[in-house]
Amino acid sequence: MRVLIAGANGHTGRILVQFLLESPDHEPVAMIRSEEQAEHFQESGAEWVLGDLEEPLDPVLEAAGRIDAFIFAAGSGSKTGPEKTLSVDRDGAIRSIAALEAAGIQRYLMLSSMRADPGSEGHPISHYLRAKGIADAHLRRSELAWTIVRPGRLTQEPGTGQVAAAPHLEPSGEIPREDVARVMVRCLDRPDTAGLSFDLLGGSTPIDEALDGLAGS
Ligand SMILES: NC(=O)c1ccc[n+]([C@@H]2O[C@H](COP(=O)([O-])OP(=O)(O)OC[C@H]3O[C@@H](n4cnc5c(N)ncnc54)[C@H](OP(=O)(O)O)[C@@H]3O)[C@@H](O)[C@H]2O)c1
Repeated sequence: MRVLIAGANGHTGRILVQFLLESPDHEPVAMIRSEEQAEHFQESGAEWVLGDLEEPLDPVLEAAGRIDAFIFAAGSGSKTGPEKTLSVDRDGAIRSIAALEAAGIQRYLMLSSMRADPGSEGHPISHYLRAKGIADAHLRRSELAWTIVRPGRLTQEPGTGQVAAAPHLEPSGEIPREDVARVMVRCLDRPDTAGLSFDLLGGSTPIDEALDGLAGS
């Protein structure tokens, strides 16, 4: 698959691009926001395309050429204000869903968050959890072949290849970004993960076994 990654220059995005480059079955196309960011991708041999989730995405899809799948790994981050949470995490995601539908591209992987919920209240980051939850709800209602991955807090620790995954996990916890990226690449490999939405933490189950459990449930 040729896979367009929004947020490719982010911490998880860069790992995703690297894993896709290493995979014999996939080819990443990094969606980045400025030409200065291109050097990293040129060095690793990944294609890149300029694109901003706050702008129309149709020209980006056109410039990217054939695309078989899309990964949303972007995020406004904690350093910007709540208005960016709405315009990137919520509206940017919704814009990307509409653009994929219009372009006839079926496969969509959403990097969401544990506790993402359109009705989130009383949590210190409820505005973010609502934004992610609303975007996820749009995706579930779409015609796309979606998978929604809802990790806990992301860390830069090395991955272990072992996770805990379930429709709902309690309490929350953390997971290395490398393991999140591994799970997402396996979801691309596995059409049986379309229609799944699951919480994801570091754990003790090998990734494929964890996905088998979800796909079979
Ligand atoms: N951090 C956590 O603990 C946590 C937990 C659960 C879920 N998540 C979710 O996991 C995903 C990845 O998180 P991360 O911490 O690895 O990401 P990150 O390092 O913060 O990177 C986010 C990326 O999004 C890009 N971006 C921001 N605004 C954009 C826009 N308007 N158009 C296109 N791209 C834009 C940034 O671009 P630039 O490089 O140009 O700035 C950056 O590359 C996010 O969706 C986040 O909400 C995070």
